[in-house]
Amino acid sequence: MLNRAAKLVKEAEVFVITAGAGMGVDSGLPDFRGVEGFWNAYPAYRRIGVSFEECANPEQFARDPRFGWGFYGQRTNLYRETTPHAGFHVIRKWINESGGDYFIVTSNVDGHFQKAGFAEERVLEVHGSIHWLQCQTPCEERIWPNREIFDIDELSMLVKGELPRCRSCGRVSRPNILMFGDWKWLPDRTRRQEELFDLFMRRNSGRRIAVIELGAGTSIPTVRRLSERIGWGVENAHVIRINPREPEIMEPHVSIQAGALEGLERIDIELGSIRS
Ligand SMILES: NC(=O)c1ccc[n+]([C@@H]2O[C@H](COP(=O)([O-])OP(=O)(O)OC[C@H]3O[C@@H](n4cnc5c(N)ncnc54)[C@H](O)[C@@H]3O)[C@@H](O)[C@H]2O)c1
Ligand SMILES: [Zn+2]
Repeated sequence: MLNRAAKLVKEAEVFVITAGAGMGVDSGLPDFRGVEGFWNAYPAYRRIGVSFEECANPEQFARDPRFGWGFYGQRTNLYRETTPHAGFHVIRKWINESGGDYFIVTSNVDGHFQKAGFAEERVLEVHGSIHWLQCQTPCEERIWPNREIFDIDELSMLVKGELPRCRSCGRVSRPNILMFGDWKWLPDRTRRQEELFDLFMRRNSGRRIAVIELGAGTSIPTVRRLSERIGWGVENAHVIRINPREPEIMEPHVSIQAGALEGLERIDIELGSIRS
């Protein structure tokens, strides 16, 4: 499997990198993986008895913005403080060496591909980004960069001090992230990214595409489905699925049962030996 993965990387003219929460795990970020996984990552929410779905809920956010910003403020701080792991750089090296075109598609809201040096105009963030804010109402379509500082009480998980506000109407703002049952998310930024991704797929039609999927789970399968849609539906495209717990994919696609960093490094070592 490693050898086939390395050959696909070596021969690729184009890279599509698809990533779920598992991509951040080796940087030290939690994935959520059901209610137990979420509570292991956030023991305070186990104590309070609330799930990820209840934390990422627009009505709950509107009812109790200190609670809502407790969750997203903590994650803003965490994603800002954390450095993307070396696997991001392995991917950048492969792309640079191939001189080929690439695009990133991720359900992560952490902005870590941009932080690791990938170009902003080559990232599709299907669920939005924590680094952008919008009005909660929303009173207008505008979104703006998240430059807020958050201080969170670790026991109650409520944010302390001033809440971030919409500059137009003064109501509390919220992250420009798609929450559960969310009719108020402003999707324009993601829609523009989708248009760029569609153009990218069109201009690379017929080329040899390597889809490298990292840590994309089955519970919210948006990213996994996209990899499969490209793998089965686009000519000359092959998927390399890297996942420690749910790596299954049918041949001719390639399944690597490993964490993202380990899987990428092992393919890179194999690539070195087939090149020499
Ligand atoms: N960093 C972030 O932005 C972040 C973090 C958590 C969740 N989320 C989002 O919340 C939603 C639900 O989260 P979820 O946790 O159920 O996501 P998910 O469905 O993507 O599941 C996580 C996946 O990562 C895999 N995984 C675990 N450790 C890994 C590792 N070291 N390397 C590679 N893969 C690994 C798991 O086997 C699982 O398949 C998703 O949309 C996700 O993108 C985002
Ligand atoms: Zn407003």
